[in-house]
Amino acid sequence: MDDRVKTGIKGLDELIGGGLPKSSSILLSGEAGTGKTIFSLQYIYSGAKDFGEAGIYVTFEEKPEELRREALQFGWDLKKYEDEKKIVILDAASLRVGVPTDENFYVKSDVDIKSLLSRLYEIAIDIDAKRIVIDSLPAFFFSDEPENMRDDIYMMGRVLTETKATSILITEIINGQGYSRFGYEEFITRGVITMHLVEGEKAMPRMAEYKRSIFIRKMRETNHKIKQYPFSISKEGIVVYPQGEIY
Ligand SMILES: Nc1ncnc2c1ncn2[C@@H]1O[C@H](COP(=O)(O)OP(=O)(O)OP(=O)(O)O)[C@@H](O)[C@H]1O
Ligand SMILES: [Mg+2]
Repeated sequence: MDDRVKTGIKGLDELIGGGLPKSSSILLSGEAGTGKTIFSLQYIYSGAKDFGEAGIYVTFEEKPEELRREALQFGWDLKKYEDEKKIVILDAASLRVGVPTDENFYVKSDVDIKSLLSRLYEIAIDIDAKRIVIDSLPAFFFSDEPENMRDDIYMMGRVLTETKATSILITEIINGQGYSRFGYEEFITRGVITMHLVEGEKAMPRMAEYKRSIFIRKMRETNHKIKQYPFSISKEGIVVYPQGEIY
């Protein structure tokens, strides 16, 4: 189907009508270590490799070198596609925290949100990006002022819409509370996917076993179930089990 963008994540696309709604922004939310970065690397890598679609990964926390190494664990050679201009990792992590970078794509230490977004837009046009990842929204915002944040998030929404790419915006859930950090993100996103660690059956008293689950909380124009699906992180990356049960 033309109006869908395949995530490249085994088992997931069939749960959301064939893929993410094209040219939309999706919020990917979860607690620390639930797999948000791996999910998003897989989305960008598979776009370049399997669908010939260029992608941009904007990283605010991890350095590009760390992402390349993490991806390689799963056999995803980002560098190869970076050389072909099919993938760009935009380093917004280094200079902002005061460490040097020798990346080709980076943002300066004193960059404001508007310039950052216009840089992102420029690159998107340049490589004809069909996929964009922002890792992560909380790290993206410099201001703690709720008023500014609301304006910033709308500005981001406008810019992303203008690129016509299909975007994944990563955010965090803190202590199991809600699924968005600020509450505004939801307004610019047409879908919300959350990733969790849930307590499974207890093999022994007080020895909880945790399982990974993924939940499609909202996906406009999509007939999806409201259900937690199990997934694993294996040597091929994330695999979702549509027939599996969590409990
Ligand atoms: N090679 C691997 N095989 C299986 N599981 C792995 C592998 N590498 C990492 N993991 C699992 O993935 C987790 C990290 O995933 P990821 O970095 O995507 O999480 P995240 O949600 O982005 O976390 P954060 O919020 O801290 O950025 C690790 O804690 C580990 O449980
Ligand atoms: Mg992460």
